[in-house]
Amino acid sequence: MNLKKLKKKVAFEVLKFIPLKEIIGIGTGSTISYFLKYLKKFKNKIKGAVSSSTKTTNILNEYGIKIFYLNNINFLPIYIDSADEINKNMEMIKGGGAALTREKIIASSAKKFICIVDETKIVNVLGKFPLPIEVIPMAYKYVTYELVKLGGIVEKRKNVLTDNNNYILDVKNLFISNPKSLEKKINNIPGVVSVGIFSKRKPDILLISKKNKIKTIFRK
Ligand code: 5RP
Repeated sequence: MNLKKLKKKVAFEVLKFIPLKEIIGIGTGSTISYFLKYLKKFKNKIKGAVSSSTKTTNILNEYGIKIFYLNNINFLPIYIDSADEINKNMEMIKGGGAALTREKIIASSAKKFICIVDETKIVNVLGKFPLPIEVIPMAYKYVTYELVKLGGIVEKRKNVLTDNNNYILDVKNLFISNPKSLEKKINNIPGVVSVGIFSKRKPDILLISKKNKIKTIFRK
């Protein structure tokens, strides 16, 4: 089964977790774009959505799904998103789509976070996927030096400005054996807006799309 089919399968499966007449938080990326196609057919069953990016907002607008701002609501029951890598402790790398900061904020605000991935995203150790870090433009050189000290090979993502008008640094060569400590360390570098390690806000439910089935894991 090809990657597209795996992504579509898990994007469809997650529909059964959607609470009726509620607002749902929605991530960014190709898996989420498939999910939104399915959600379009159910749009009258939900109240609306909180979007994590301009890309997702544009799709929601096109599909006629009402958008709510996080600051204007009191409760977000659920957030649905994918990941670039996830390990067996449900720690993740996110930010391939440059939306990590808003994704982290919405995931942290939601009561439940459901992550939908295809099986290629499962890893033993995080770090093969270059770690995305959102940085304030005037600080990117300084942050780069600090990341090199941590052993990283840093590349500024070309022609990308995030929805918050910042840059993305992609960091290779990090063998992330302790995601918690690295998330904290990188967050503490002045100029970093957020780091694509999600070790504090992990998914509550993980759906993994495999060739013959969808595996559902509930975090203990
Ligand atoms: C965007 C993300 C995405 O969840 C991640 O990049 C996975 O994307 P895709 O569904 O296209 O594989 O973190 O910032």
